Amino acid sequence: MPVIPIKTHRELLDSRQPGCGMPGELFGRQDVFETDMDVFFHKLWILVAVTADVPEPGDVYAIDIGKASILIVRDDDENVRAYRNICRHRGSRLMKNAGKASVGMLVCPYHQWTYDLDGSLRHTSHMGKEFDANCRSLIPVHIKVVGAHIFVCLADEAPEDFSKLETAMTPRFAPHDMQRTKIAYEMEIIENGNWKLVMENNRECYHCGATHPELTQSFLAHDFGFCPDGQSEAALHDYEQYLAHNATRKEEWEKDGYLCELFESLDESVETNFRSQRLVIAGAGESQTMDTKVASTKLLGNLQRRDLGDVHMWGHHSWTHVMSDHAVVATAIPIAPDKTRVRTVWLVHEDAIEGVDYDLQTLTEVWVATTQQDAELVGNTHSGTQDPGYVPGPFSQYTEGELEQFARWYDARLKAHGV
Ligand code: FES
Ligand SMILES: [Fe+2]
Repeated sequence: MPVIPIKTHRELLDSRQPGCGMPGELFGRQDVFETDMDVFFHKLWILVAVTADVPEPGDVYAIDIGKASILIVRDDDENVRAYRNICRHRGSRLMKNAGKASVGMLVCPYHQWTYDLDGSLRHTSHMGKEFDANCRSLIPVHIKVVGAHIFVCLADEAPEDFSKLETAMTPRFAPHDMQRTKIAYEMEIIENGNWKLVMENNRECYHCGATHPELTQSFLAHDFGFCPDGQSEAALHDYEQYLAHNATRKEEWEKDGYLCELFESLDESVETNFRSQRLVIAGAGESQTMDTKVASTKLLGNLQRRDLGDVHMWGHHSWTHVMSDHAVVATAIPIAPDKTRVRTVWLVHEDAIEGVDYDLQTLTEVWVATTQQDAELVGNTHSGTQDPGYVPGPFSQYTEGELEQFARWYDARLKAHGV
C-alpha cells in the first residue's frame, strides 16, 4: 500500500485557492484544532462573558476554553477580575464545573486554601512559618470590559491592537449603557461543526433569505447582498434607493450623536479581528423582533428613541446586536474539531420586568430560531467538508467577501505564530 503523506497545517493553508473555501482537513483534523485553540483562543483577546453574568460582589463565573479554565469574579469593590481557575497549592480547580456561583471567598475543595476575591491567598493550614502566602495569589488573566462585554486574553502579553476595538466600541455602546443590563434569557447550543464554519456562517447573509424567516423580518431586501450582473434598470434603481435609504438613516443618527460608520479591523496585519456598524432595521425600524418593534418598552440606558437600528459587532468568535431595547450577545467556543459551544444571552435594562416591560417569547423568538437554523446549516456543512469527495468552492464576491478576509486573516495569524 502506498503511504499517502499527511499534509502539514501550513501545506493545508497554502493549498487553499484564493477566493475559495478552506480544505476540509482544516475543519476536521485534531492537530489543526489544537493549534487553533492555542493561537485563536489562548493568545488573542476573546469575548467570554457579559457584566451581567457577575452582577454582585462575590459572583463568580467559571468558563472552560479548551484545557484552560478561567474565573470571572466581581470583587468587593465591584471590579470585574479574571483568574486562572487553578489553586496555587497543587493545582486543583477552584470551581470544578463551568457555570456560576456566589461566594464570599474562593475556597479550594482539596485542602481548603482560601482566596479573597482580589485573588490574594488569605488562609492556609499546616504550611508553617516560612510559607509566604504573598507569592501564591491566584494567577490573574488580562481582562478588558467594553460596554457589557468581558474580554480576556490568556497570553502573557496581550495583543495591543485591542485598543482599536475599545476606542471604536466604547462610544458606540455608550448611549445603550450596557452595564446597566441584566440577562433576560440565555441559551447554549452545541453546534456539530468546526468553529471556523460557525464564523463563516455568521459572516455572510447569502443564506439568510432562504433559511431565516424570523430574522429577515427586520432585514431590508438588499441586506442579503446584491449582484448587479444582468439586473434590470428597475432592479438597479431599487438598489440605489436602498443605498439612499441607508445613507439617510445614518445621516439622521449621526446628527443626533449616534455613531454609525462602518469600522473594521479585519486585514491580515491585525490580531484583534472585528467589525462594527449601525445597521438599519426594516419595517418599524426598532428591533430584531417579528414585528420589528421593540420587545422591551423599557429602553436601554436613558434612551428615548426606539428607532436606533442595530449596533452590530463581530469578532473572530462572537457576534453582538444592540438595539434600543435589548442586546443579543453570542460567543462561539470550540470544544472539538466538530463541536462548538454557542452561547447566546439576551440583555434588557436592569429594571425591566418580564411580563410588564417585555414578553420573553417576543424578546427571544427571532434569535432562538435563527441560532437553531444556523446550527443545522453548520452541522450539515461540516459533514460535507469531511466527505472524501469534498472540493472547496468559490465565495460569492457580492455576499461572501468577508469569508475570504477571514480565511486570509486566519492564515496570517497562524503564520505569525510559526505555522
Ligand atoms: S490543591 Fe488547592 S488546597 Fe491543595
Ligand atoms: Fe444564519
